[in-house]
Amino acid sequence: MDKLIVEGGRPLRGEVRVSGAKNAALPLMAAAILAGGPLKLTNLPDLGDLKTMGRLLTFMGGQVDLGQGARREALLDLTQLNKPEAPHELVKTMRASALVLGPLLARVGRARVSLPGGCAIGVRPIDLHLKALRAMGAVFDLSGGDIVARAPEGGLKGAEIRFETVTVTGTENLMMAAVLAKGRTVIANAAREPEVVDTGRALLAMGAKIEGLGTGTIIIEGVDFLSGATYEVTPDRIEAGTLLAAVALAGGEITLRGFPHEALATVVAKLKETGLIITPIGPDLVAKAPEVLEAADITTQPYPGFPTDMQAQFMAMMTPARGTSVITETIFENRFMHVGELRRLGADIALEGRTAVVRGVSQLSGAPMTASDLRASASLVLASLAAKGLSQIHRVYHLDRGYEGLDRKLVALGASIQRVKA
Ligand code: EPZ
Repeated sequence: MDKLIVEGGRPLRGEVRVSGAKNAALPLMAAAILAGGPLKLTNLPDLGDLKTMGRLLTFMGGQVDLGQGARREALLDLTQLNKPEAPHELVKTMRASALVLGPLLARVGRARVSLPGGCAIGVRPIDLHLKALRAMGAVFDLSGGDIVARAPEGGLKGAEIRFETVTVTGTENLMMAAVLAKGRTVIANAAREPEVVDTGRALLAMGAKIEGLGTGTIIIEGVDFLSGATYEVTPDRIEAGTLLAAVALAGGEITLRGFPHEALATVVAKLKETGLIITPIGPDLVAKAPEVLEAADITTQPYPGFPTDMQAQFMAMMTPARGTSVITETIFENRFMHVGELRRLGADIALEGRTAVVRGVSQLSGAPMTASDLRASASLVLASLAAKGLSQIHRVYHLDRGYEGLDRKLVALGASIQRVKA
């Protein structure tokens, strides 16, 4: 397992391009199951989770080429799919594998998908996915930890669905089930995340009939066939937000190329409250750190609220800020694994249930830390940029699942980060 050795106190300067979004690329790859021809995805990032999804689609009988280099072009051809299964050894490393359930039921009427286990940030059930698919006529059995799913004779039927909790992959799974179903499906209390919109737009490019993308109500008219298509993956708003938090903590001034302005509007407004000087310039954005960050409060919410995937990074920003920040996590029940590690740098953080109270300290000091999940590992890297002396971050594979070389990008901007191969 690789580790990162970071020497803090180095301001960031220069420019960096925002990569394609992991949480758009994953459902887009699953959507290839629905296509009657090759699906070409451009601006794909080089991420561990996408390699896992590629292995899963290949296991099913697909031809998958994830491309090479930066902003890679992937070609996915699932027309010869012959094994509608997602085995445990693949699902256990990436619970987003559940995203193949809807497409498989729509395409071949059956699926065997290992029930995704929990992860560090919570139990993360998929009960809402299954309940909604049942409304479309699907039947599920649990056998040996696998969900054995069948669509009714004649295929899934359109249905009126209301999610009692906003679920991002639940919305994506149901959209992908509904596009080939018989009749109309209405998804109420649907997720509005940009990555959900991206998935819907790719389905439209394949010939689907969808209205209401980006709103809380998505209406889908089933069609008989979806073709292949070419689709560009939207920029990763969470990587972009993470880079803004990096310059806020390290100091300096950076330019982000291909910045998702609309998708990050709430986060940008909040970061301005902390004193970060943010100037949009066409498709790009310049961020300049203030001398001292000011504390601000956040409560995570479904889009367009402050994203839970930026909570750990924002908390890192608040540890050396002036004042006290109240951070409330409403989406996941255990997304404070980074708190214990940040305390090792001298951060003053008190936990009360789903709320963390961060009292800014004047100086963080470097220390060894251990990553527990994807966004927590990012927050540890960010905090070490502001800490005096050397820090080490162990179990960096968490970082590589969701960031395209975050350490390389930060080094290119002037950070002192050494990756030590285990
Ligand atoms: C997606 O996960 C993202 N992953 C997560 O990003 C993100 O944190 C999350 O949405 C919230 O924005 C991908 O898109 C691949 P949910 P997802 O279903 O879809 C509960 C990252 O760091 N729930 O919106 O799994 C659930 O437990 C990852 O990139 C049910 O109870 O999240 C959670 O408390 C982490 N039953 C809440 O709803 C269900 O059937 C929201 O979960 C489904 C969800």
